[in-house]
Amino acid sequence: MVSLRFLLCFLYISSTYATIVSHDGRAITIDGHRRVLLSGSIHYPRSTPEMWPDLIKKGKEGGLDAIETYVFWNAHEPTRRQYDFSGKLDLIRFLKTIQDEGLYGVLRIGPYACAEWNYGGFPVWLHNMPGMVFRTTNKSFMDEMQNFTTMIVDMVKKEKLFASQGGPIILAQIENEYGNVMGPYGESGKAYIKWCANMAQSLDVGVPWIMCQQNDAPQPMLNTCNGFYCDNFVPNNPNTPKMWTENWTGWFKQWGGKNPHRTTEDVAFSVARFFQRGGTFNNYYMYHRGTNFDRTAGGPYITTSYDYDAPLDEYGNLNQPKYGHLKQLHDVLHSMERTLTYGNISTIDFGNSASATIYKTEEGSSCFFGNGNENSDAKISFQGESYVVPAWSVTILPDCKNEAYNTAKITIQTSMMVKKPNEAEDTPSTLKWSWRPENVDNFILKGKGESTQTQLFDQKVVTNDQSDYLWYMTTVKFKKRDPFLGKSMSLRINSTAHVLHAFVNGKHIGIQHAEDGKFNYVFEKDVKFKSGRNVIALLSITVGLANYGAFFESKPAGITGPIFITGRNGDETIVKDLSAHKWSYKTGLNGFENQLFRTESMSKWSVESVPFNRSMTWYKATFKAPLGNDPVVVDLMGLGKGTAWVNGNNIGRYWPAFISSENGCDAKCNYRGAYHAEKCLTNCGEPTQRWYHVPRSFLNAEGDNTLVLFEEMGGNTSLVSFQTTRVGSVCANVYENKIIELSCDRKPISVIKFASFGNPYGNCGSFEKGTCESSNNTVDILTQECVGKEKCSIDVSTKKFGAPDCSGAARKLAVELIC
Ligand code: GAL
Repeated sequence: MVSLRFLLCFLYISSTYATIVSHDGRAITIDGHRRVLLSGSIHYPRSTPEMWPDLIKKGKEGGLDAIETYVFWNAHEPTRRQYDFSGKLDLIRFLKTIQDEGLYGVLRIGPYACAEWNYGGFPVWLHNMPGMVFRTTNKSFMDEMQNFTTMIVDMVKKEKLFASQGGPIILAQIENEYGNVMGPYGESGKAYIKWCANMAQSLDVGVPWIMCQQNDAPQPMLNTCNGFYCDNFVPNNPNTPKMWTENWTGWFKQWGGKNPHRTTEDVAFSVARFFQRGGTFNNYYMYHRGTNFDRTAGGPYITTSYDYDAPLDEYGNLNQPKYGHLKQLHDVLHSMERTLTYGNISTIDFGNSASATIYKTEEGSSCFFGNGNENSDAKISFQGESYVVPAWSVTILPDCKNEAYNTAKITIQTSMMVKKPNEAEDTPSTLKWSWRPENVDNFILKGKGESTQTQLFDQKVVTNDQSDYLWYMTTVKFKKRDPFLGKSMSLRINSTAHVLHAFVNGKHIGIQHAEDGKFNYVFEKDVKFKSGRNVIALLSITVGLANYGAFFESKPAGITGPIFITGRNGDETIVKDLSAHKWSYKTGLNGFENQLFRTESMSKWSVESVPFNRSMTWYKATFKAPLGNDPVVVDLMGLGKGTAWVNGNNIGRYWPAFISSENGCDAKCNYRGAYHAEKCLTNCGEPTQRWYHVPRSFLNAEGDNTLVLFEEMGGNTSLVSFQTTRVGSVCANVYENKIIELSCDRKPISVIKFASFGNPYGNCGSFEKGTCESSNNTVDILTQECVGKEKCSIDVSTKKFGAPDCSGAARKLAVELIC
């Protein structure tokens, strides 16, 4: 009896431990099954736990096999050996949500992340440990890195989440793109990478470890590629499958910058080309855009919205056509999985950057026709048939005969998102505000901080990054007959403060921030000093700590000086160096310490004479949650710069006063030719970020909600309003003999604004009829089939729309409808 139970128990264990992950040069093998793997990055703290199931489900419906995330060390260990895995930081809950959806997980522990995340994911206390140097053979660093990595691995193992334990995680990552920066670390860098590999390996996770952009990755680490294109990538070991850990679906945004877009056609092209050339794992970075809540944005100057033009937008809406066009690609690739992972590969070069790749097994063949020429279409004849492959595209033929997919031919609608005003009952057209000044008198009048030093320090060293704000204060005495006083005087500060406010004797003398990415600048203002005691108070504000580059941890932030007072009289100049003066420091602002952002805060707020354009001011308003389920945003147009909270939840830094320059936008954007981050920009001459995400879970559906703002620069609250975001109109522009689905995303279609079958031209919002057009009333046909419905499926054919004579050219249907 005992032995039977033992046997059953043994069988049970071995079946739950059955998932084995290995790799064999051509593919990742899971449970003995070789896989074409499509994956997408969703970073758990960039959304809320309530959003996770929907985001992950949409990933699955979009044809993903896996979800990737980094692990964010500084969020989990904000103070040494004090951990936080609550709320948005509940990593295990996130991984279990992936598991519940039946997807695989890719866990990039790092623990260096980069990711446009504050300090690349490193805690600032780590930097402040004696003798610390990051990412090299520095004993203290290695101990701390090992401690955190081991802790994460142990947590994940305890929950049996590695595939070797029957869980979803098939790959783990150590370090991140170290190969890109390792030169300056010299021999120590090489030794460090070996140490990383051994340390990771010793943790015995039972799944392969990846090291991206590391072409000296020691065995058995898998060396993988990151970039806009990775078809040329060759891993450093013949047994490593060709894997792409970051296919950038767009790019990130910085304050003062514009909105980067990467076209759908080009993302699809890069993926198809990668699989054409033997790729096996493609991860979209990012698949979901996300929000840099609180002070998590990296930098300097990464915006609160981590807008990446990803297939799922910041709020979790489908970004169409990107989401749908990639879904179709995933479906086609999956249908060819067997041939791609087992087939013999042969290629035909047609010249002029056109090629065919044939994957052949005994059961059948699958083909890719690629055209990397950015100007001319390729006419290809293959096995007695002729094909046209548009410039900069790949055609996929799962049976080597029929075109199932072309990366440049989109048959998915374009959804244009709109913002709608808050329609909650009893919502006044403008919010009713109360306010409080931030009390800065102690600093600007008295220069009184909490510690003094005769030196100017880097901001991180003083604040431990517990706050964005650090006061640097000193006093300067002039005797009545001091030679300075008779001259025209100025205060000159060599600054690396991300934003700097300067006060002399209580008067605000100026504010400056970095322009054009120059975070090392000189602030100089004429100042009238008086005889006797003068107080200089400088408020240095960080806007995300550096997250990238060799030795990025020591990039200065704050006021590291030198600081001078100069006096000029004709040709005569005298200079007083204040750098080694007695400086008094104070971290943070009173309002933050007193938690004015908390709903239950007892502090007094005034409703009288609510000020406009007053710096260092707190504002508060109550509002009702918008009805329905559409995602909520707050429009902060009119404000300067600061931080916003909804019901005590920090929704991030805001800075709508930062307007991007007028030039360099290209809404029409040609998808042909290699993408780079400066291509296809929009939003020129507008606030870099005007709308800020308020997750529904931050709101009380019934009753009042509170918005608190801390305004640093001065702004106008009268335009602030809550809105919802949803699909406003939908367009499509498809060739005949395709089926197009039109949908308003669970809202009824209300009217067909434009429709023409023939050779219409133009873009969504500005379609025009062409020279040939069907005599049937296309608008009527579509009105009948679609209006009043949430979606409709249209067979774009001459049978439905008639057969206008377009001189033999393929006919197209262009349609624009309003939701
Ligand atoms: C990569 C890095 C990512 C992210 C990306 C740009 O170099 O690995 O974490 O920063 O660049 O968005």
